[in-house]
Amino acid sequence: MSRAVILRHTVTSRAHLTPELALRLITPACPLWRAGGDQLPFPDPYWGFYWPGGQATARYILDNPGMAKNRRILDVGCGCGAGAIAAAKMKAESVLANDIDPFALTATNINASLNAVSVATTSANLIGTRVDCDTLLVGDMFYDEQFAETLFEWLLGLKGVTVLIGDPGRHALTARRRAALTLLARYTLPPDSCLENRGFLDTTLWKLNN
Ligand SMILES: C[S@@+](CC[C@H](N)C(=O)[O-])C[C@H]1O[C@@H](n2cnc3c(N)ncnc32)[C@H](O)[C@@H]1O
Repeated sequence: MSRAVILRHTVTSRAHLTPELALRLITPACPLWRAGGDQLPFPDPYWGFYWPGGQATARYILDNPGMAKNRRILDVGCGCGAGAIAAAKMKAESVLANDIDPFALTATNINASLNAVSVATTSANLIGTRVDCDTLLVGDMFYDEQFAETLFEWLLGLKGVTVLIGDPGRHALTARRRAALTLLARYTLPPDSCLENRGFLDTTLWKLNN
């Protein structure tokens, strides 16, 4: 049911930083692009957009195979699933895509199939819990200060886990938090992504110093 709704309201897009990944997204070509909140057939569809932070995360993984190969990957707040799918394509030992929105997990499964990979999914809220992975992906999760505080404290406590954070410069990735990170890459967003992401021209990939 949610699968059919997602397919009806999205189109396949490669107009982003990782054109090697086909993703079902809500683009300006979709009637839903101009719809008001009360016209949406699902809760706010964050999974329908490929956020610039997620684009940086997936781009970095595709360009740096060692980051995923033979590693156990967890993509927290996976949205459309691009980070998880990139890791699966780069031969991760296992990939778990996590989002508290079940629609995001259906979208992730649709997108994984489109790209000929499969990933495990969970809608549990993992933030604050013990997780068993080698590399943890965080794509564009620093849009709210209160949430960022909880998220970042959790990330700081994950000893031995490689934490990669994609972010276009959102306000909650503050200078204090950036001081605990190393900048690994900066990417210029393609024009369509700039349109969809309201003004961000580039996006960055950071690694937690832990
Ligand atoms: C801005 S979107 C980013 C999606 C994707 N990572 C990307 O960059 O394209 C944030 C996502 O985080 C999810 N989210 C919010 N709180 C969460 C939580 N506690 N655990 C897992 N996912 C969460 C939302 O449902 C949403 O899909």
